[in-house]
Amino acid sequence: MDHSSKVLEATAANLAHCAELLRSDEVVGMPTETVYGLAGNALNASSVRKIFAVKGRPLLDPLIVHFSDLAAAEAHIETNDSVRQLAAAFWPGPLTMVVPKQASIPDLVTAGLPSVAIRVPQHPVFRTILKRLNFPLAAPSANPFGYVSPTLASHVAHTLGSRIQAVLDGGPCDFGLESTIIDLRNPQVPVILRHGPVTEAQINQILQVEVSTHSGASNDTAPQSAPGLLTKHYSPRARVTLLPHGETLTADAAPESGIALVCNQKPTWHTGQANIFWLSETGELNEIAHNLFELIQRLDQQGYQQLCIEQAAEEGLGHAINDRLRRAAAKLEAE
Ligand code: TXA
Ligand code: MG
Repeated sequence: MDHSSKVLEATAANLAHCAELLRSDEVVGMPTETVYGLAGNALNASSVRKIFAVKGRPLLDPLIVHFSDLAAAEAHIETNDSVRQLAAAFWPGPLTMVVPKQASIPDLVTAGLPSVAIRVPQHPVFRTILKRLNFPLAAPSANPFGYVSPTLASHVAHTLGSRIQAVLDGGPCDFGLESTIIDLRNPQVPVILRHGPVTEAQINQILQVEVSTHSGASNDTAPQSAPGLLTKHYSPRARVTLLPHGETLTADAAPESGIALVCNQKPTWHTGQANIFWLSETGELNEIAHNLFELIQRLDQQGYQQLCIEQAAEEGLGHAINDRLRRAAAKLEAE
Protein backbone atom coordinates (compact mmCIF):
# COMPACT_ATOMS: atom_id res chain seq x y z
CA MET A 1 0.00 0.00 0.00
CA ASP A 2 1.08 3.56 -0.68
CA HIS A 3 1.52 5.53 2.53
CA SER A 4 2.76 8.75 0.98
CA SER A 5 -0.28 10.58 2.41
CA LYS A 6 1.35 10.19 5.85
CA VAL A 7 4.14 12.54 4.74
CA LEU A 8 3.26 16.04 5.99
CA GLU A 9 4.86 19.24 4.77
CA ALA A 10 6.36 21.24 7.62
CA THR A 11 3.64 23.92 7.64
CA ALA A 12 2.56 25.72 10.82
CA ALA A 13 -0.67 23.68 10.92
CA ASN A 14 1.16 20.35 10.48
CA LEU A 15 3.78 21.24 13.11
CA ALA A 16 0.96 22.02 15.55
CA HIS A 17 -0.77 18.74 14.64
CA CYS A 18 2.39 16.67 15.21
CA ALA A 19 3.16 18.43 18.51
CA GLU A 20 -0.37 17.49 19.59
CA LEU A 21 0.16 13.85 18.53
CA LEU A 22 3.33 13.77 20.64
CA ARG A 23 1.48 15.27 23.63
CA SER A 24 -1.04 12.44 23.23
CA ASP A 25 1.78 9.85 23.51
CA GLU A 26 1.76 9.02 19.79
CA VAL A 27 4.97 8.57 17.77
CA VAL A 28 5.85 10.75 14.76
CA GLY A 29 8.51 10.45 12.03
CA MET A 30 10.69 13.57 12.19
CA PRO A 31 13.68 14.91 10.27
CA THR A 32 17.04 15.46 11.93
CA GLU A 33 20.28 16.61 10.32
CA THR A 34 21.61 13.03 10.49
CA VAL A 35 18.75 10.66 9.59
CA TYR A 36 14.97 10.65 10.14
CA GLY A 37 13.94 9.75 13.70
CA LEU A 38 10.86 8.05 15.13
CA ALA A 39 10.02 10.41 18.01
CA GLY A 40 7.93 9.97 21.14
CA ASN A 41 7.73 11.43 24.65
CA ALA A 42 10.91 10.17 26.37
CA LEU A 43 9.35 10.57 29.82
CA ASN A 44 6.25 8.53 29.05
CA ALA A 45 6.50 4.74 29.12
CA SER A 46 3.52 4.15 26.82
CA SER A 47 4.97 6.35 24.12
CA VAL A 48 8.42 4.74 24.47
CA ARG A 49 6.83 1.29 24.17
CA LYS A 50 5.20 2.38 20.91
CA ILE A 51 8.61 3.36 19.51
CA PHE A 52 10.01 -0.12 20.17
CA ALA A 53 6.87 -1.79 18.81
CA VAL A 54 6.70 0.25 15.59
CA LYS A 55 10.36 -0.46 14.80
CA GLY A 56 10.24 -4.09 15.92
CA ARG A 57 13.25 -3.20 18.04
CA PRO A 58 14.42 -5.41 20.92
CA LEU A 59 13.97 -3.78 24.33
CA LEU A 60 17.66 -4.32 25.12
CA ASP A 61 18.67 -1.66 22.56
CA PRO A 62 18.40 1.72 24.34
CA LEU A 63 17.17 4.98 22.76
CA ILE A 64 18.74 8.41 22.32
CA VAL A 65 16.91 11.24 24.10
CA HIS A 66 16.74 14.57 22.24
CA PHE A 67 16.61 17.92 24.09
CA SER A 68 16.23 21.53 22.96
CA ASP A 69 19.44 22.61 24.67
CA LEU A 70 22.10 21.61 27.21
CA ALA A 71 20.20 23.11 30.15
CA ALA A 72 17.15 20.97 29.37
CA ALA A 73 19.38 17.87 29.19
CA GLU A 74 21.22 18.67 32.41
CA ALA A 75 17.93 18.44 34.35
CA HIS A 76 17.96 14.66 33.63
CA ILE A 77 21.66 13.65 33.81
CA GLU A 78 24.77 13.76 35.98
CA THR A 79 26.79 16.26 34.03
CA ASN A 80 30.55 16.88 33.83
CA ASP A 81 33.00 19.35 32.22
CA SER A 82 33.56 17.20 29.14
CA VAL A 83 29.81 17.23 28.43
CA ARG A 84 29.80 21.03 28.65
CA GLN A 85 32.87 21.42 26.42
CA LEU A 86 31.56 19.08 23.75
CA ALA A 87 28.09 20.65 23.90
CA ALA A 88 29.60 24.11 23.41
CA ALA A 89 31.58 22.85 20.41
CA PHE A 90 29.07 20.58 18.65
CA TRP A 91 25.50 21.24 19.83
CA PRO A 92 23.10 21.64 18.27
CA GLY A 93 24.51 18.95 15.99
CA PRO A 94 25.32 15.31 15.22
CA LEU A 95 26.98 14.28 18.51
CA THR A 96 25.38 11.97 21.11
CA MET A 97 26.86 11.68 24.60
CA VAL A 98 26.34 8.76 27.00
CA VAL A 99 26.24 9.94 30.63
CA PRO A 100 24.82 8.76 33.97
CA LYS A 101 21.07 9.37 34.08
CA GLN A 102 18.75 10.69 36.75
CA ALA A 103 15.62 8.80 37.87
CA SER A 104 13.39 11.00 35.67
CA ILE A 105 14.50 9.05 32.56
CA PRO A 106 12.44 5.83 32.45
CA ASP A 107 14.40 2.57 32.57
CA LEU A 108 12.62 1.47 29.40
CA VAL A 109 14.41 4.23 27.43
CA THR A 110 17.85 3.04 28.55
CA ALA A 111 17.19 -0.72 28.51
CA GLY A 112 17.69 -0.71 32.26
CA LEU A 113 21.15 0.91 32.06
CA PRO A 114 22.04 3.61 34.59
CA SER A 115 23.28 5.77 31.68
CA VAL A 116 21.40 7.67 28.98
CA ALA A 117 22.37 8.78 25.46
CA ILE A 118 21.58 12.48 24.90
CA ARG A 119 21.66 14.78 21.90
CA VAL A 120 20.58 18.30 20.93
CA PRO A 121 19.67 18.09 17.24
CA GLN A 122 20.16 20.86 14.70
CA HIS A 123 17.33 20.38 12.22
CA PRO A 124 14.96 23.40 12.38
CA VAL A 125 11.81 21.24 12.14
CA PHE A 126 12.90 19.02 15.05
CA ARG A 127 13.97 22.08 17.06
CA THR A 128 10.65 23.83 16.49
CA ILE A 129 8.75 20.81 17.77
CA LEU A 130 11.02 20.42 20.82
CA LYS A 131 10.48 24.05 21.76
CA ARG A 132 6.70 23.52 21.76
CA LEU A 133 6.85 20.56 24.12
CA ASN A 134 7.65 20.45 27.80
CA PHE A 135 9.30 17.04 27.52
CA PRO A 136 12.30 15.61 25.61
CA LEU A 137 11.88 13.23 22.65
CA ALA A 138 13.26 9.72 22.49
CA ALA A 139 14.04 9.00 18.83
CA PRO A 140 15.82 6.09 17.23
CA SER A 141 16.32 6.12 13.48
CA ALA A 142 12.90 5.70 11.82
CA ASN A 143 13.61 2.39 10.06
CA PRO A 144 12.36 -1.12 10.82
CA PHE A 145 14.94 -2.70 13.17
CA GLY A 146 17.99 -3.87 11.22
CA TYR A 147 17.18 -2.00 7.99
CA VAL A 148 19.04 0.97 6.48
CA SER A 149 18.35 4.33 8.21
CA PRO A 150 16.01 6.76 6.40
CA THR A 151 17.34 9.99 4.92
CA LEU A 152 14.09 11.05 3.19
CA ALA A 153 10.54 11.34 4.55
CA SER A 154 9.45 8.92 1.81
CA HIS A 155 11.80 6.24 3.22
CA VAL A 156 9.90 6.42 6.52
CA ALA A 157 6.49 6.35 4.82
CA HIS A 158 7.57 3.39 2.68
CA THR A 159 8.78 1.20 5.56
CA LEU A 160 6.76 2.34 8.62
CA GLY A 161 3.84 4.17 7.01
CA SER A 162 1.26 1.55 7.96
CA ARG A 163 2.20 1.79 11.65
CA ILE A 164 2.40 5.54 12.25
CA GLN A 165 0.11 8.51 11.75
CA ALA A 166 2.56 11.05 10.36
CA VAL A 167 6.04 11.83 9.06
CA LEU A 168 7.08 15.48 8.97
CA ASP A 169 8.98 16.27 5.79
CA GLY A 170 12.17 18.23 6.38
CA GLY A 171 13.80 17.41 3.05
CA PRO A 172 16.88 15.19 2.61
CA CYS A 173 19.04 14.89 5.75
CA ASP A 174 22.24 16.96 5.52
CA PHE A 175 24.69 14.42 6.91
CA GLY A 176 22.92 11.19 5.92
CA LEU A 177 24.68 9.15 8.64
CA GLU A 178 23.67 8.68 12.27
CA SER A 179 25.28 10.84 14.96
CA THR A 180 28.65 10.09 16.52
CA ILE A 181 28.17 8.47 19.95
CA ILE A 182 30.72 9.11 22.70
CA ASP A 183 30.67 7.41 26.10
CA LEU A 184 31.45 10.02 28.78
CA ARG A 185 30.43 8.00 31.81
CA ASN A 186 34.05 8.33 32.89
CA PRO A 187 35.17 11.70 31.45
CA GLN A 188 38.82 10.72 32.00
CA VAL A 189 38.38 7.83 29.54
CA PRO A 190 36.10 8.93 26.68
CA VAL A 191 35.22 6.14 24.26
CA ILE A 192 33.65 6.48 20.82
CA LEU A 193 30.82 3.92 20.60
CA ARG A 194 29.75 4.79 17.06
CA HIS A 195 31.62 6.80 14.43
CA GLY A 196 29.65 9.56 12.77
CA PRO A 197 29.77 13.09 11.36
CA VAL A 198 31.75 14.51 14.31
CA THR A 199 35.15 12.87 13.89
CA GLU A 200 37.54 11.49 16.49
CA ALA A 201 40.07 14.22 15.60
CA GLN A 202 37.49 16.96 16.22
CA ILE A 203 36.65 15.47 19.63
CA ASN A 204 40.32 15.07 20.58
CA GLN A 205 40.89 18.69 19.80
CA ILE A 206 38.19 19.83 22.23
CA LEU A 207 38.81 17.38 25.07
CA GLN A 208 42.61 17.36 24.80
CA VAL A 209 42.70 13.70 25.85
CA GLU A 210 43.21 10.63 23.71
CA VAL A 211 39.79 9.25 22.77
CA SER A 212 39.59 5.53 22.12
CA THR A 213 37.13 3.59 19.98
CA HIS A 214 34.96 0.82 21.35
CA SER A 215 36.33 -2.35 19.83
CA GLY A 216 33.91 -4.68 18.14
CA ALA A 217 30.21 -5.14 18.43
CA SER A 218 28.50 -6.29 21.56
CA ASN A 219 26.92 -9.70 21.83
CA ASP A 220 23.59 -9.39 20.01
CA THR A 221 21.50 -11.15 22.65
CA ALA A 222 22.95 -9.99 25.98
CA PRO A 223 21.89 -6.67 27.53
CA GLN A 224 24.43 -4.24 26.14
CA SER A 225 27.13 -3.13 28.59
CA ALA A 226 28.37 -0.60 26.08
CA PRO A 227 25.53 -0.72 23.59
CA GLY A 228 24.99 0.97 20.29
CA LEU A 229 26.50 -1.65 18.13
CA LEU A 230 24.54 -4.69 17.12
CA THR A 231 26.56 -6.37 14.40
CA LYS A 232 23.97 -7.02 11.73
CA HIS A 233 22.49 -3.61 11.23
CA TYR A 234 21.77 -1.23 8.40
CA SER A 235 21.16 -4.18 6.05
CA PRO A 236 19.14 -3.75 2.89
CA ARG A 237 17.24 -6.70 1.43
CA ALA A 238 19.91 -7.06 -1.27
CA ARG A 239 23.21 -8.69 -0.37
CA VAL A 240 26.01 -6.20 0.17
CA THR A 241 29.59 -7.08 -0.72
CA LEU A 242 32.48 -4.65 -0.24
CA LEU A 243 35.37 -3.66 -2.49
CA PRO A 244 38.57 -2.18 -1.03
CA HIS A 245 38.86 1.58 -1.51
CA GLY A 246 40.27 2.46 -4.92
CA GLU A 247 39.84 -1.02 -6.40
CA THR A 248 36.77 -0.61 -8.56
CA LEU A 249 39.04 -0.41 -11.60
CA THR A 250 39.91 -4.04 -11.16
CA ALA A 251 36.26 -4.94 -10.55
CA ASP A 252 34.23 -6.34 -13.37
CA ALA A 253 33.55 -3.23 -15.43
CA ALA A 254 30.33 -4.76 -16.71
CA PRO A 255 28.54 -6.28 -13.70
CA GLU A 256 25.93 -8.94 -14.42
CA SER A 257 22.32 -7.85 -14.37
CA GLY A 258 20.97 -8.04 -10.82
CA ILE A 259 24.29 -6.76 -9.48
CA ALA A 260 24.86 -3.04 -8.93
CA LEU A 261 28.41 -1.70 -8.69
CA VAL A 262 28.59 1.36 -6.41
CA CYS A 263 31.78 3.45 -6.61
CA ASN A 264 32.85 6.37 -4.42
CA GLN A 265 33.21 8.63 -7.44
CA LYS A 266 32.36 8.56 -11.10
CA PRO A 267 34.76 6.00 -12.61
CA THR A 268 37.03 7.33 -15.33
CA TRP A 269 36.44 4.14 -17.28
CA HIS A 270 32.66 4.46 -17.08
CA THR A 271 31.21 3.18 -20.32
CA GLY A 272 27.54 3.88 -19.74
CA GLN A 273 26.31 0.60 -18.20
CA ALA A 274 23.03 1.06 -16.38
CA ASN A 275 24.10 -0.84 -13.29
CA ILE A 276 27.17 1.21 -12.37
CA PHE A 277 26.56 3.98 -9.80
CA TRP A 278 28.62 6.50 -7.85
CA LEU A 279 28.08 8.30 -4.56
CA SER A 280 29.85 11.52 -5.50
CA GLU A 281 31.15 13.15 -8.70
CA THR A 282 34.45 13.96 -7.00
CA GLY A 283 34.74 11.30 -4.25
CA GLU A 284 34.23 13.86 -1.48
CA LEU A 285 33.46 12.12 1.87
CA ASN A 286 30.62 14.44 2.98
CA GLU A 287 28.86 13.86 -0.30
CA ILE A 288 29.41 10.08 -0.15
CA ALA A 289 27.88 10.02 3.36
CA HIS A 290 24.99 12.26 2.31
CA ASN A 291 24.07 9.97 -0.61
CA LEU A 292 24.92 6.51 0.77
CA PHE A 293 21.68 5.39 2.47
CA GLU A 294 19.51 7.03 -0.19
CA LEU A 295 21.28 5.16 -3.00
CA ILE A 296 21.22 1.84 -1.12
CA GLN A 297 17.46 2.15 -0.55
CA ARG A 298 16.81 3.18 -4.15
CA LEU A 299 18.78 0.20 -5.52
CA ASP A 300 17.05 -2.09 -3.02
CA GLN A 301 13.66 -0.87 -4.23
CA GLN A 302 14.74 -1.35 -7.84
CA GLY A 303 15.18 -5.03 -7.04
CA TYR A 304 18.95 -5.53 -7.32
CA GLN A 305 19.96 -8.81 -5.66
CA GLN A 306 23.49 -7.71 -4.87
CA LEU A 307 25.14 -4.37 -4.21
CA CYS A 308 28.88 -4.38 -4.68
CA ILE A 309 30.04 -1.22 -2.87
CA GLU A 310 33.48 0.42 -2.79
CA GLN A 311 34.63 1.28 0.74
CA ALA A 312 35.62 4.88 1.56
CA ALA A 313 39.15 6.01 2.41
CA GLU A 314 39.83 5.18 6.10
CA GLU A 315 40.15 8.81 7.24
CA GLY A 316 37.84 11.30 8.96
CA LEU A 317 34.23 10.65 8.01
CA GLY A 318 35.41 7.56 6.08
CA HIS A 319 35.51 5.62 9.39
CA ALA A 320 31.78 6.17 9.88
CA ILE A 321 30.94 5.35 6.26
CA ASN A 322 32.96 2.11 6.36
CA ASP A 323 31.46 1.14 9.73
CA ARG A 324 27.96 1.34 8.21
CA LEU A 325 29.09 -0.56 5.10
CA ARG A 326 30.60 -3.38 7.16
CA ARG A 327 27.36 -3.71 9.13
CA ALA A 328 25.31 -3.79 5.92
CA ALA A 329 27.61 -6.52 4.58
CA ALA A 330 27.44 -8.51 7.84
CA LYS A 331 24.06 -9.81 6.65
CA LEU A 332 25.99 -12.17 4.40
CA GLU A 333 27.84 -13.65 7.38
CA ALA A 334 24.67 -13.91 9.46
CA GLU A 335 22.92 -16.05 6.86
O1 TXA B 1 21.67 10.42 14.46
C1 TXA B 1 21.13 9.74 15.33
O2 TXA B 1 21.71 9.44 16.38
C2 TXA B 1 19.69 9.28 15.07
C3 TXA B 1 18.78 10.51 15.09
C4 TXA B 1 17.34 10.15 14.95
O3 TXA B 1 19.02 11.24 16.26
N1 TXA B 1 19.29 8.32 16.05
C5 TXA B 1 19.80 7.06 16.06
O4 TXA B 1 19.25 6.27 17.05
O5 TXA B 1 20.65 6.67 15.31
P1 TXA B 1 19.37 4.68 17.06
O6 TXA B 1 18.47 4.26 18.15
O7 TXA B 1 19.10 4.14 15.72
O8 TXA B 1 20.82 4.43 17.51
C6 TXA B 1 21.22 4.85 18.78
C7 TXA B 1 22.23 3.95 19.40
C8 TXA B 1 21.62 2.61 19.69
O9 TXA B 1 22.19 1.60 18.87
C9 TXA B 1 21.88 2.40 21.15
O10 TXA B 1 22.39 1.13 21.46
C10 TXA B 1 22.89 3.49 21.54
O11 TXA B 1 22.62 4.53 20.64
N2 TXA B 1 22.60 3.93 22.90
C11 TXA B 1 21.46 4.44 23.34
N3 TXA B 1 21.51 4.61 24.69
C12 TXA B 1 22.71 4.18 25.09
C13 TXA B 1 23.37 4.08 26.35
N4 TXA B 1 22.78 4.42 27.50
N5 TXA B 1 24.63 3.60 26.38
C14 TXA B 1 25.24 3.26 25.22
N6 TXA B 1 24.67 3.30 24.00
C15 TXA B 1 23.43 3.76 23.94
MG1 MG C 1 19.22 2.98 14.14
